[in-house]
Amino acid sequence: MHAFVLYLFAFVTSACGGLLAQRQDARVQGANEGHYLVGVGIGDITGPVVETNMMGYASLAQTDTGLHMRQRSRAFIIADPSDPTSPTSRILLISSDICMGDTGVRRSILDALSTDPVLGDLYTPSNTALVGTHSHSGVGGYLEDLLPQTTSLGYVNQTAQAIVDGTLNAIHKAHASLAPGSIRVGNTTLLGANRNRSPSAYVANPPEERAKYQYDQDKELSVLRLDDANGTARGLISFFAVHGTSLYENNTLVSGDNKGMAAYLYESYSEPNTVPGNNSFVAGFVQSNVGDTSPNTLGAFCESPGQSYDGQLCEYEHATCGGYVEDCHGRGPGFRISDFVSNFLIGNAQFEAARQVMESSAPKVILTSPDTAIETSKTTSLTGVKGSVRNVHVYVDMMNYTFTLPNGTIASTCPAALGFDGPGAFDFVQGDNSSTPQNPFWEIVKDAVTPPPSQEQIDCQYPKPILLNTGYADEPYQWSPHTVDVQMLRVGNFVVLVMPGELTTMAGRRMRDALRARLISSGILDSSAYVVIAGPANTYGHYVATREEYSIQRYEGASTIFGPAALEAYIDRYSALVPYLADNVTGSPTSDAPPPEQTSVAISLQTPVIVDNAGFNQFGDVLVDVENTTYSAGDTVTVQFVGANPRASMLVFCP
Ligand SMILES: *[C@@H]1O[C@H](CO)[C@@H](O)[C@H](O)[C@H]1NC(C)=O
Ligand SMILES: *[C@@H]1O[C@H](CO)[C@@H](O)[C@H](O)[C@H]1NC(C)=O
Ligand SMILES: *[C@@H]1O[C@H](CO)[C@@H](O)[C@H](O)[C@H]1NC(C)=O
Ligand SMILES: *[C@@H]1O[C@H](CO)[C@@H](O)[C@H](O)[C@H]1NC(C)=O
Ligand SMILES: *[C@@H]1O[C@H](CO)[C@@H](O)[C@H](O)[C@H]1NC(C)=O
Ligand SMILES: *[C@@H]1O[C@H](CO)[C@@H](O)[C@H](O)[C@H]1NC(C)=O
Ligand SMILES: *[C@@H]1O[C@H](CO)[C@@H](O)[C@H](O)[C@H]1NC(C)=O
Ligand SMILES: *[C@@H]1O[C@H](CO)[C@@H](O)[C@H](O)[C@H]1NC(C)=O
Ligand SMILES: *[C@@H]1O[C@H](CO)[C@@H](O)[C@H](O)[C@H]1NC(C)=O
Ligand SMILES: *[C@@H]1O[C@H](CO)[C@@H](O)[C@H](O)[C@H]1NC(C)=O
Repeated sequence: MHAFVLYLFAFVTSACGGLLAQRQDARVQGANEGHYLVGVGIGDITGPVVETNMMGYASLAQTDTGLHMRQRSRAFIIADPSDPTSPTSRILLISSDICMGDTGVRRSILDALSTDPVLGDLYTPSNTALVGTHSHSGVGGYLEDLLPQTTSLGYVNQTAQAIVDGTLNAIHKAHASLAPGSIRVGNTTLLGANRNRSPSAYVANPPEERAKYQYDQDKELSVLRLDDANGTARGLISFFAVHGTSLYENNTLVSGDNKGMAAYLYESYSEPNTVPGNNSFVAGFVQSNVGDTSPNTLGAFCESPGQSYDGQLCEYEHATCGGYVEDCHGRGPGFRISDFVSNFLIGNAQFEAARQVMESSAPKVILTSPDTAIETSKTTSLTGVKGSVRNVHVYVDMMNYTFTLPNGTIASTCPAALGFDGPGAFDFVQGDNSSTPQNPFWEIVKDAVTPPPSQEQIDCQYPKPILLNTGYADEPYQWSPHTVDVQMLRVGNFVVLVMPGELTTMAGRRMRDALRARLISSGILDSSAYVVIAGPANTYGHYVATREEYSIQRYEGASTIFGPAALEAYIDRYSALVPYLADNVTGSPTSDAPPPEQTSVAISLQTPVIVDNAGFNQFGDVLVDVENTTYSAGDTVTVQFVGANPRASMLVFCP
């Protein structure tokens, strides 16, 4: 077989040194005085960087051919020093450079933790959240449900195992680094880094509701600053909603996209002489209500050579060109140069915005395109976080979650289904032509698509025209989840709503407002309550649009799999769990059954590496050496040598 020629660029190097910081004894002062135990850690989760489908665009053709930036998990632990052995007074938030959190990966991480004599008692399904940064350039095949496996030809164990191992590494480092510290929160307004990709759905929301907001996207970047006992920053957790689609569907280099870039920029700014991945300062750029956001800030244009509409804006209602979505492409701020420049700019804007909140001396001007810099004047000063650390988690069966709307009407969610405007990218469906089989995985599973939806399901999902009735597709295993994770993490007056899907901008605003009001009205928090959304986390429940956006059936509405009442159902269920965040909480809520374990029965069609040899060369032979010249920081160093297939072993970078 062929040997792989590896191109190594200096800035992608990685290393895995462990942090050996000793855990310091907890002080008596507790969370109610603003004293916390804080731990941060980072781990490499990069799976096979060649010959493997990438996760996000659901494109059979997007198979990875190398590496742009390594993918990482960043783990943050916050605990109450006055109650240091209780999982109730502790949270573990993981921001992972993957497209979305996944039930199977989360289960594997928790199973591994549960066998650890120390960590097993401290980190539980209730206090541990796995949030994806929503990179669309990560290695694919790790999700447990069948539908997202169709383009990766099933489950790719190597991808999932790399995520599990690297995340555990990050958690162990974070736990080992636990030390007394304090936490502050603030935000800034970041313009020019996101744009609404479905404005025709957004305007369906009531005018009086839209009038409350200046923009059709959330522009605030919120930051939790994590300090040691002397007030020196050890890390940060930021929240900002922007899709991880700066790199396009035709990119085949594995990357953390703009959030991975932002984190890399912050960490290397903080520790300029440290090899990436070996840093002790950890910067989490957590994804938020990402549903209808785009980093392609110039807008979406038709790339239809020869057509009259070539180069024009895509059609407004459905983002089509000549009636088809395929030619419509968003353009990032570096469009004229490359998507890698766009990726840098959107990552850099988030890095600079976070820095501005972290440091009062940070620049007020942020570069958002090659030609444009925006001035951010609305940065709020950091205020101290204090109060109990709490968490709550339940599984919720969304097949038919029945509840009462605020106006007294009974509503229900529906078994999952995807509409026509949603999975447009799953072009295997159109490719379903028995005489021209294109996808061997689809050939195996397509007969398991159930008969047309029942009238009850059609009525429940109305007005969605059902393309894939996945709520009834359980063979050979579940196509999309029936049961999702509902979770909240509280650090004093700061509360994270950990969401199993992609909420749109307005869905996120309604969710945050409703939960903040409930936290205050139930006496748990006062008006300093600060509520953010993190997602897609834990289980991928696709999109969550508002009822009004759902009625438009744009991409996000068509992909709101549990029907028009999905958002209201989440608001209902999360609100009911608010009492479990109280200082004086006892007991735990009743939960539905967890989703079934599916990784052990998953189909895997990716062929293993059978033969790997160096041809006429030896492994390690240098084919093109570095130029004999002086390099300075920022230069690209190119070398070409004979390497093994990167799929042959995942142990190269991280033992
Ligand atoms: C990583 O950090 C550790 C601890 O500071 C250090 O001993 C090790 O040399 C570092 N590794 C690299 C590759 O820089
Ligand atoms: C990968 O496969 C091995 C061997 O079958 C198994 O023990 C392991 O649990 C799998 N890992 C994941 C994350 O599925
Ligand atoms: C930003 O911080 C200010 C001051 O704390 C607060 O009033 C505002 O609600 C925050 N913005 C968001 C989006 O949380
Ligand atoms: C805080 O400062 C004291 C006194 O300078 C020093 O002994 C201690 O090591 C510092 N702690 C940290 C976490 O840096
Ligand atoms: C990738 O797609 C973008 C947008 O359609 C295009 O501008 C760019 O040239 C493409 N890149 C490659 C390498 O084909
Ligand atoms: C959902 O539950 C309600 C009441 O529990 C019931 O009336 C309805 O038939 C159920 N719908 C489905 C699709 O099972
Ligand atoms: C209650 O609200 C739902 C959702 O907006 C709506 O469909 C229903 O008609 C309303 N019921 C009443 C009695 O207003
Ligand atoms: C299926 O493939 C055959 C043979 O290539 C072709 O004639 C036919 O038009 C295709 N059908 C569809 C629906 O694409
Ligand atoms: C817990 O505190 C809340 C408000 O702070 C109060 O309403 C509730 O009665 C308390 N519950 C118990 C069991 O003490
Ligand atoms: C590299 O260049 C230096 C200075 O021009 C020269 O002395 C040295 O021999 C060169 N090394 C190689 C390997 O060509």
